[in-house]
Amino acid sequence: MSSYDKKFHEKTKNEEPRALAKKLMEVLANPSRIIDLGAGAGVDAKHFIENGHTVIAVDRETTVLEDLKIELSNKNINGLEVVKADLYEMKLPQVDCVYASFSLPFCPTQLFEQKWHQLESQIPNGATIAMIFFGKNDSWAEWTERFTFHSKSEIETLFKAYDLLYLEELENEGTSMRPNGEIVTKHWHTFSVIGRKKSII
Ligand SMILES: C[S@@+](CC[C@H](N)C(=O)[O-])C[C@H]1O[C@@H](n2cnc3c(N)ncnc32)[C@H](O)[C@@H]1O
Repeated sequence: MSSYDKKFHEKTKNEEPRALAKKLMEVLANPSRIIDLGAGAGVDAKHFIENGHTVIAVDRETTVLEDLKIELSNKNINGLEVVKADLYEMKLPQVDCVYASFSLPFCPTQLFEQKWHQLESQIPNGATIAMIFFGKNDSWAEWTERFTFHSKSEIETLFKAYDLLYLEELENEGTSMRPNGEIVTKHWHTFSVIGRKKSII
């Protein structure tokens, strides 16, 4: 998996930040400490740092993230910490925001509920979350042994302890990368969510 991830990171490292990363910048107090789970090539992490935040970028494959860290520190920018870890198994540090773009669905459907509970229960009250999930009309939807897919009502249930600031459901034709690096077309169905965990009084 790791050589695929590295290839994917090399391919995406010069892309624009995700729309959700830009949207998050409109609602997040500055400066915040953000953890980016499944940070990939670090494009969004870099965008957050450029907007005055600090970032802990977590991924199971961190070669390209380490290169980004060196590139930034050569410019005297020190807001990036890189952590090589399984995002579902790690102990979450104290953060203001948990960001996860196209990473949380990389979990077998059978394991998602338990893994989500383990992760979500560590998110502090008052923290902001911004996350992208896969929907059930996605063309990968039969690969439940690798991924997890949600309906809109399941997403709303996942976030019932949150004030939802933004929920966008999107279906579009796009591309994905095969393990051999080939780019193929696919139908994407996604939910992008921004929310704030309610404080229990
Ligand atoms: C599709 S990429 C998305 C990368 C980036 N967030 C983006 O939006 O472009 C999924 C990323 O999640 C990472 N990933 C998937 N499952 C993971 C896990 N259990 N622990 C850590 N990283 C994981 C992969 O290595 C990859 O970098």
